[in-house]
Amino acid sequence: MNLQFEEGKALVNNILKGNRPSDVNVMVFPTSLYVQSLSQEAKKEITVGVQNFNANEKGAFTGEMSISQVESVGVSIGLIGHSERRAIFNETDADLKLKVDAAIEKGFNFIFCCGEPLEVREAGNEYSFVKAQLEASLFHLSSDELKNGIIAYEPVWAIGTGKTATSQQAEEMHAEIRSWITEKYSAEIANSVSILYGGSCNNKNAKELFACPNVDGGLIGGAALKAESFLEIINAF
Ligand code: PGA
Repeated sequence: MNLQFEEGKALVNNILKGNRPSDVNVMVFPTSLYVQSLSQEAKKEITVGVQNFNANEKGAFTGEMSISQVESVGVSIGLIGHSERRAIFNETDADLKLKVDAAIEKGFNFIFCCGEPLEVREAGNEYSFVKAQLEASLFHLSSDELKNGIIAYEPVWAIGTGKTATSQQAEEMHAEIRSWITEKYSAEIANSVSILYGGSCNNKNAKELFACPNVDGGLIGGAALKAESFLEIINAF
């Protein structure tokens, strides 16, 4: 819930004007209110998506928006299960599974977010915690449905805290996630899935994080609010 409309518009325009490698896929996920204008502004050079959506098709769900409503303004990707949705808005694994299923049914793209809170990492249970999140909401998909999907690993203790996972911690978790997909599906599916790192990724640490073999990109919060630092992160990839 950052930036007023004119600021968001300027941010998108400055990203468009900036120097970006043509082989890096750039997306922005603004406040829903701005999605339609910003996606027109972005002229398909960068993809614009929503931070959240409702799994129901239509009806009396005041304050919510459905996938088909989002699609009707030309937007075709959304986040599912950002840690703030889970922690602040009490979205459960079962709720997120419904969103995954609704997205698959509509052919709507999504980035599925997972990650452990601090107390789980301190107790040494981060792998089983993240695996359980994926099993509860995502790993029921078929190979065809999971193929080319996007997962974002975002340790909750690193989001908005300035405390980044080390590149080793990120790589270890990403490698685990890929190995679970290999076990459950196949190496082909595991290699087709992009695994992004999120949590205090910035223009100083992005290069090292993105150099990890299993880190396929980033989900950037605070450091993407200024075009200059976001462009540096894009170029670090
Ligand atoms: P951050 O946020 O980069 O500010 O830590 C990441 C996120 O909210 O996904």
